Amino acid sequence: MKDSENKVIIITGAGMGLGLATAKELASKGSKLVLVDYNEKSLTDAKAEITKEFPDVNIINVVADVSKEEAVKNYVDEAVKAFGRIDGLYNNAGIEGKQASITEYDVNIFKKVIDINLMGVYYGLRYVIPVMQKQKFGRIVNVASVGGIRGVLNQMPYVASKHAVSGMTKNAALEYGRDGILTNAIAPGAILTPMVAEAFKQVNPENPKAAETEYAQRNPTKRLGQPHDVAKLVAFLLSEDNGYVSGQTIAIDGGESNIYGNS
Ligand SMILES: NC(=O)c1ccc[n+]([C@@H]2O[C@H](COP(=O)([O-])OP(=O)(O)OC[C@H]3O[C@@H](n4cnc5c(N)ncnc54)[C@H](O)[C@@H]3O)[C@@H](O)[C@H]2O)c1
Repeated sequence: MKDSENKVIIITGAGMGLGLATAKELASKGSKLVLVDYNEKSLTDAKAEITKEFPDVNIINVVADVSKEEAVKNYVDEAVKAFGRIDGLYNNAGIEGKQASITEYDVNIFKKVIDINLMGVYYGLRYVIPVMQKQKFGRIVNVASVGGIRGVLNQMPYVASKHAVSGMTKNAALEYGRDGILTNAIAPGAILTPMVAEAFKQVNPENPKAAETEYAQRNPTKRLGQPHDVAKLVAFLLSEDNGYVSGQTIAIDGGESNIYGNS
């Protein structure tokens, strides 16, 4: 892929799941990586895992909670200090919260989901964009969800936050396209990461595997997505091969969000 080599990419939520899969994909293409996560242990393990597979990769780890503005400012400063520029931001860290109906939802958990999924993405944009403006180049991928284009039962704060991610993506595309910055969002369906495995445990605590198999049957492809499916799309959107796609929320869900009624 054109020019992923030596590009400096920040990945939030890089300790596991979609963030880690994308970090590996970009490491395989010779990008320089800034891995961000609030879980220090998973960040350390992620760096070790990537370095084992790609010994020449240039990585720094920054422990940060993306819902804290100062911590976001710091990961941006650390990236610039280490590499002198930022070519790409994968604004990926997010949580699902608990599953509960609107009237029963714990308000503190609601606020936490908004703080991480909405404010965390906003702070990333706020502090990375000025660096990209100076360079007259940047690629940003924000992580929404199918819950950012559809409703999802019992997940109101998640759905609200992910619709907001899609909205912020449109605005960033409008406001900074003139600076060579292309901003898109992805809307993954069910991709088998630790976060989704946890959701299946909530659906069927006795037999999460059965919940997973049943869920996959609804998908046109009859399978769940895998993290590497997402990593390939993100790597493209973060590369210079993407010259003109901006402001989009791209579903990556095997076509499932197109279903209306029984299929
Ligand atoms: N897996 C899916 O099917 C799916 C579907 C749609 C959207 N998403 C979105 O993709 C993103 C990644 O999901 P995943 O499935 O890889 O989740 P995951 O739970 O497997 O990994 C998320 C990572 O983000 C980190 N993280 C969480 N909150 C953080 C914070 N405040 N600051 C810094 N790091 C934080 C966690 O420590 C973890 O390493 C999330 O935004 C999620 O909403 C995932």
